[in-house]
Amino acid sequence: PLVSMKDMLNKALEEKYAVGQFNINNLEWTQAILGAAEEEKSPVILGVSEGAARHMGGFNTVVKMVEGLLIDMNITVPVAIHLDHGSSFEKCKAALDAGFTSVMIDGSHHPIDENIEMTKQVVEYAHAKGASVEAEVGTVGGQEDDVIGGIQYADLNECVRIVKETGIDTLAPALGSVHGPYHGEPNLGFKEMEEIRDAVNLPLVLHGGTGIPTHDIQKSISLGTSKINVNTENQIAFAKVVREVLAAKPDAYDPRSFIVPGRDAIKATVIGKIKEFGSSNKA
Ligand code: G3H
Ligand code: ZN
Repeated sequence: PLVSMKDMLNKALEEKYAVGQFNINNLEWTQAILGAAEEEKSPVILGVSEGAARHMGGFNTVVKMVEGLLIDMNITVPVAIHLDHGSSFEKCKAALDAGFTSVMIDGSHHPIDENIEMTKQVVEYAHAKGASVEAEVGTVGGQEDDVIGGIQYADLNECVRIVKETGIDTLAPALGSVHGPYHGEPNLGFKEMEEIRDAVNLPLVLHGGTGIPTHDIQKSISLGTSKINVNTENQIAFAKVVREVLAAKPDAYDPRSFIVPGRDAIKATVIGKIKEFGSSNKA
């Protein structure tokens, strides 16, 4: 069933595992992720960036596609459709009006007072619809769609303020993670993560899940991280297999002959992440 992230993440925080947010790009991506979650009996969050939503036709198309797959695939695990890195109140509102059950309002590139102001507006609108809200403080490095940025660690006082003043359901404090592959090992701010966890008492989100080693994943979960976002790793898995299939069969033209192996690669990657995050059999 379609649900918000609220109960999912509070349960994860309590029982010390993380729910994966896996970004979707199209039908096959969504099939792969839903299939993996159902097989693992795991809750799952479908992340949809503004660019990916545009690519798929729009927020309404995304919701109808996911709703259709939930029925046709007999999905029984909890599923959230979540706007990833929403850039404005208007974008969040449009996603929520289309039926998204969760949104991230990413005001992290604005001064903190503006970030709080836009987040507050989104919370009011989303909560009235029973949807959940994620906000970000500090900035994640690397590039995702239209959002480019350098790393800036989250400030503890700003984290406390945004939680108290807006009523968000979950907070993404940027602590050294990066969108896209890491160059060398990531350098996550675990001390800061612990301080923020103790001060805000909310499930935390870790962006830039691609390429974070298992020991850092485990440590993050032990310090209050309840949601981990993964995007690039699935893209790499898909592209690698499709390249291999097309190289082996240069005359192939039925799209299913190379998209299906790519879809299977995404599913296998997601199953691996779900196991690593400890959310198997938590549905
Ligand atoms: O919001 C999405 C993520 O933070 C994805 O990061 O592409 O490095 O896995 P990633
Ligand atoms: Zn992100």
